[in-house]
Amino acid sequence: MDKILVTGGAGFIGSHLVKRLVSDGYEVVVLDKLLRGNKLEKDILNQIELVHGDVRDRDLVHRLVKGCRYVYHFAAVLGVDIVADNPVETMETEVIGMKHIGDAAILNGIEKVIYASTSGVYGHSAIEKSVTETIQIDPRTSYAIAKRYNEIYLAALGEEKGLQSISLRFFNVYGTAQDTRMVIPRFFHQALMGKPITVFGNGEQTRDFTYIDDTITACYHLANQVKGAEIFNIANEQEITIKDLAFAIKEITNSSSEIQFIEAPKKRYDFEVERRIGSSAKLKAAVDYQPSTQLKEGLGKLVAYYEEEFSAKV
Ligand SMILES: NC(=O)c1ccc[n+]([C@@H]2O[C@H](COP(=O)([O-])OP(=O)(O)OC[C@H]3O[C@@H](n4cnc5c(N)ncnc54)[C@H](O)[C@@H]3O)[C@@H](O)[C@H]2O)c1
Repeated sequence: MDKILVTGGAGFIGSHLVKRLVSDGYEVVVLDKLLRGNKLEKDILNQIELVHGDVRDRDLVHRLVKGCRYVYHFAAVLGVDIVADNPVETMETEVIGMKHIGDAAILNGIEKVIYASTSGVYGHSAIEKSVTETIQIDPRTSYAIAKRYNEIYLAALGEEKGLQSISLRFFNVYGTAQDTRMVIPRFFHQALMGKPITVFGNGEQTRDFTYIDDTITACYHLANQVKGAEIFNIANEQEITIKDLAFAIKEITNSSSEIQFIEAPKKRYDFEVERRIGSSAKLKAAVDYQPSTQLKEGLGKLVAYYEEEFSAKV
């Protein structure tokens, strides 16, 4: 049975990935600092090793990487407000964490590192069109610049040391176990609690949302089928304005909340891009992948989940 290390495996995307790896019979070790608690389900926790620790801890990373086939490196500090308030921790987690993962992977002959990058690397360059991996990018935030640094670092490790890697440029991912740092759970929370649904600016900015199960399928296919050191967008290729998203969540939850348009705090400015829609053409050409859950359906799947989640906190 192959052993896999998942850093950040107790977070939103990582916990879904771990579930899939366990159901496919892999031996899974999770390294996570549990910044937002533990999102792994109880029955999964019984089947894995969860190590509460930091990817900046060199000795720990080297010990855990030993004997693994792949490393999924998903640990990160994220959420616009949190990153804006903690740029040093954000960058050090990325850069120091990747240094240790890269060194340990090479030392131990790991087959591949699969790294969670972000569509944030496109920054303000993605205004006109659906973006491909080759357009000129314009990252401006600590988070996006550190993610881009790591993409280039992985490419360099591939070139000089032969390490295989895949950098996944996730566009907005959504699904169960995501918390209110992100816009969809935040709107659900506001709608279900009868609070104003707050939209930054005029709400005409767009985003491209991929359902968690599609995201995991894409990661999985890429990890198992692609060789070399590559970068892939994982996008749904559909954009929606944040205003329309707010109305859709209000409607689907039968909420009486009003939709309020408020000015974004100054610290969010660099993060606030007008348009973001990705092209998954490279992904689809590389592996057999087609997203199966479109946004309306995905939001529908989440109503019962968030009703239970938020009613428990009243
Ligand atoms: N959710 C999205 O829409 C999205 C979009 C683009 C990129 N990403 C990337 O995907 C990955 C997973 O994101 P997510 O949404 O699951 O976030 P998340 O915050 O739910 O999970 C990240 C996990 O990393 C852990 N972590 C943070 N710092 C750590 C450290 N120093 N050592 C060990 N663990 C640490 C946290 O405790 C958390 O459990 C991240 O790398 C993120 O940057 C996510």
